[in-house]
Amino acid sequence: MITVVKNIFKLDSEETSYLFRVLDTGHLEQLYYGKKIQVCDDYSLLFEKHGIAFGNTVAYDQSDVNLCLEQLCLEFSTNGKGDFREPILQIKDRRDCRVSDFVYVGHQVYSGKKEVEGLPSSYGACETLEIILEDRVTRAQVVLHYSVFERCDCIVRRMSVIAAEQEITLERALSMQLDLPGEDYSMVTFNGAWVREMQGEEKTLSRGIYVNDSKTGVSSNHHNPFVILKERDCVENSGGCYGVHLIYSGNHCEIAEVNPYGRTRILSGINPHCFSRKLRAGERFETPESVMSYARGTAQLSKNFHAFINEHIVRGHWKNKTRPVLLNSWEANYFDIDEEKILQQARKAQALGFELFVIDDGWFEGRNDDTSSLGDWAPDHKKFPNGFKTLSEEFEKIGIGMGLWIEPEMVSENSGLFREHPDWALCVPGLAPSCGRNQLVLDLSRDDVCEHLISTIIKRIQSAKISYIKWDMNRNLSDVCSALLSHNGDLYHRFTLGYYKLAAAITGAFPEILFEGCSAGGNRFDLGVMCYMPQIWASDNTDAHCRMQIQRSVSFGYPQSVVGAHVSALPNAQTGRLTSLQTRFGVAAFGMLGYELDLFELSEREQNDIARQIAWYKQHRGMMQFGQQYRLTLPTNYDGMMVVDDRQQNAVVLMYQTLHLPNDVSPVVKLTGLDEARRYTISEMGADQPFATANGDLLMNCGMKLERFSHQENGAGIYLPDFGVKIFCLKSE
Ligand code: GLA
Repeated sequence: MITVVKNIFKLDSEETSYLFRVLDTGHLEQLYYGKKIQVCDDYSLLFEKHGIAFGNTVAYDQSDVNLCLEQLCLEFSTNGKGDFREPILQIKDRRDCRVSDFVYVGHQVYSGKKEVEGLPSSYGACETLEIILEDRVTRAQVVLHYSVFERCDCIVRRMSVIAAEQEITLERALSMQLDLPGEDYSMVTFNGAWVREMQGEEKTLSRGIYVNDSKTGVSSNHHNPFVILKERDCVENSGGCYGVHLIYSGNHCEIAEVNPYGRTRILSGINPHCFSRKLRAGERFETPESVMSYARGTAQLSKNFHAFINEHIVRGHWKNKTRPVLLNSWEANYFDIDEEKILQQARKAQALGFELFVIDDGWFEGRNDDTSSLGDWAPDHKKFPNGFKTLSEEFEKIGIGMGLWIEPEMVSENSGLFREHPDWALCVPGLAPSCGRNQLVLDLSRDDVCEHLISTIIKRIQSAKISYIKWDMNRNLSDVCSALLSHNGDLYHRFTLGYYKLAAAITGAFPEILFEGCSAGGNRFDLGVMCYMPQIWASDNTDAHCRMQIQRSVSFGYPQSVVGAHVSALPNAQTGRLTSLQTRFGVAAFGMLGYELDLFELSEREQNDIARQIAWYKQHRGMMQFGQQYRLTLPTNYDGMMVVDDRQQNAVVLMYQTLHLPNDVSPVVKLTGLDEARRYTISEMGADQPFATANGDLLMNCGMKLERFSHQENGAGIYLPDFGVKIFCLKSE
């Protein structure tokens, strides 16, 4: 609920309140963001007191010589009037002057929210506040948008900038600013690189600036555009924390600044790096949306974001709809595929219970390795002499869906498309472009390039009965220069807008096809993509041990329904590690389950085990994919996740052991998310009989002391090996 009383704005969700006010000067003072507080008639205790001006500070104006912007928590900050922190907006006027001074001129509140032109955005029941500010220097206007999604305790924010009579240049236009009192915070960021995505790292903030960003052209595996700010005492189930998620897939930044007065500022938005955008009189610029949430404990923060993403980001046919169990051709075959091989594998897959077979890279004309053919999206007639229409009919007869891999944003130098349109790739005339995976990036800022790609890809998908598309994007951007010179100021952003144009047109043309995003694994794993594609391949790393860590980190900000996860062959292609089939399954089952191995290389026993795994997964699929996922807190050698259905009647627990420690005792496993009063029976996956019965309160407060990490084989106790898992099923009446 949004209430406006005199000059105070109060935004309430079910559990949180967000307050700010308009000062006499017209600036906005941030007053509070945290646990919900009641409406009252006097909030003056929250106002910053500024009785004495200090030393060399700048007084905003002579009407109050003690009012210094840098000492306040502000709602919106620019440059040049005495706030020396990182601003949310920086504009340059015709004189190259960078001073601006935005003050309040009006507001409106309405139910629902607007879409953001050209950008993906959240949707659904909410209430919106718009604050209008005007610059005393250029008369440009800013609209600050706040949409309150009450049930998941999220507030979605963005900014519009509108030039007035004079042209301005945007040098920075971020999406949100949050100034908090105090400085005792730590910041959690999710960092990494290819095959080691989403490594959660926590650092204590101190006076100065910390930046989490991407300059790669995509949201990147280097630094995910999701961060958490934690109060000092925050753990999973207590202590305040703030999460910030940007709905954007390009260069982004999240800045945390603690100023000399012990005030902490968080900013999130498009990275100002290599960004400058001219706005002529009357022109408007929209920033992407940024979602913020406050919770007591990171478990609740994750719950807020899981609900928000499932309800207000993912949309269309696949929203809250169970996903098929798939077999992907990549790790088993790489580029070596053909019709006969694929059909043979698809038949086998169907017999074991698979519902979808994905033909990954290697299917298009001349694509025998990664040096050629991107851009030419016709099936290789040598590998697929009968074409895809016939192939998809064969799939239909077999009774399995057909999926296809594409990489629309890229072009190989060795391709028909590049030979015909060399100027369609990003490059600087006269300078040889740098390749990544032997390929160049198409200039998606150009309408002609986008139109060509949209019609080519749509035709290709229409040419056969396809039920799934994996949309890949395998390299970061370099040589970011367009033949259309006027695009170069904000080409990174225009590229991202072009990607959204493609994604909207292509996914929009096939509402029932399941699209899975991918970027060499998780190099573009963000809410922008998820507005078009309900799931993303989280990492090319299919090693269960690494995946456990990656998926645990992912779960802080994203629900399992958006995470593609596969069981692959041994030794693992990325790490050489050997882990049991049960471990690989257990970890992959905590995402959207798929397999990526050659079924014909498996023993009969392994094939039967896979059939049993798939059958079990299908039985529990609703809960595994859309139930509430939780992280368990365990000693370092162990890890655990669990998922609980929405009635708290059933749950599945995954217990993971890194190394087998000799002569050790098993850890106490405290469960979470259960109904305290319910009585649960607990059995191991696949076992006929439960091994225990207990109430929810015991399981959550006291925890379980399990059998030593061992299992019975042929009547003898066998230790659970390194990287072993146990999967427990909980049921209640
Ligand atoms: C990327 C993807 C892989 C696979 C290959 C194909 O690396 O992340 O899953 O699709 O491309 O070239």
